[in-house]
Amino acid sequence: MPMTRTSLHLPRRHRRLRQSAGLRALVRETRLSPEMFIYPLFVCSGTGVRRDVPSMPGVFQLSVDEAVKETMAARGDGIPAVLLFGLPDRKDEIGSAAHDPHAPVQMAIRAIKDASPDTVVMTDVCLCEYTSHGHCGIVERGEIVNDASVAELVRAAVSHAEAGADVVAPSDMMDGRVGAIRDALDEGGFTQVAIMSYAAKYWSALYGPFRDAAGSVPAFGDRRTHQMDPSNADEAIREVEQDIEEGADIIMVKPAITYLDVIARVKGEFGYPTAAYHVSGEYSMIKAAARNGWIDEPRVMLETLTAIRRAGADMIITYYAREAARML
Ligand code: PBG
Ligand code: ZN
Repeated sequence: MPMTRTSLHLPRRHRRLRQSAGLRALVRETRLSPEMFIYPLFVCSGTGVRRDVPSMPGVFQLSVDEAVKETMAARGDGIPAVLLFGLPDRKDEIGSAAHDPHAPVQMAIRAIKDASPDTVVMTDVCLCEYTSHGHCGIVERGEIVNDASVAELVRAAVSHAEAGADVVAPSDMMDGRVGAIRDALDEGGFTQVAIMSYAAKYWSALYGPFRDAAGSVPAFGDRRTHQMDPSNADEAIREVEQDIEEGADIIMVKPAITYLDVIARVKGEFGYPTAAYHVSGEYSMIKAAARNGWIDEPRVMLETLTAIRRAGADMIITYYAREAARML
């Protein structure tokens, strides 16, 4: 007579469902797809320009024509959206090129929408690429002043909408900018232009390579009077809550891998469309280790992006978008 099994027959054999690729696929909880990637591009003036960013292998500063080509290639890889950053020809104290209708970003928006109307064109809205001092706002007596900065950011966002952007993404971390941008967009008739706010953006050391790519290293001081202290998570909830109240359509946590707890809390508490920015330093660290032969790059890349997704991100902004899309 066979022995009766009790429900306490332990240990449970967890390995049963790991035996084959088919079983592993059936029980997989988190999936990545190119449809959830947003691909950042750095746009400069000129034609036929494709300039290496030394600290970000595989990333380039692109003239408008090249940005269109890169967008079309990303579309071919299944990626629906690009996020544009501008490298202006001239910088001044107040970053006035940020709202110049003929600056690289505004030109690229039009060119991409002409070539590919169904590409989701997102634009970073900030002043640091445009100011001579490299700060994200207007500086008066050594201080980044909030409300005067918001006024300039609003002008930049409206100029992106006028050029045809689908989504504007303020990354400055000034208080009240989401509401001010929403009002100005609505008054200008751009009620359908969405706002993705860099809502919980931390004062991170991981933006270093980006500042080479975008030419936005601050000439003095740093960004810790407006970006969040890496020690805080409750504060991220307050930031996100306020941006939602002011009209943000998508909220973002940035960086990603060092703030997975924040992504999980934000998604859990608000259930809002949530983006995570896998930033330049996160990308370059993987690239550098891979170039030394120390890690298996495709596996580390996919493990990283999977973790961001598993934490709760609906969409991921990543320089790996095309490489990851081609692996999936
Ligand atoms: C501009 C901006 C930054 C990033 C996105 N928008 C730099 C910064 O705040 O210093 C960082 C992106 C990255 O590191 O990939 N404010
Ligand atoms: Zn900035």
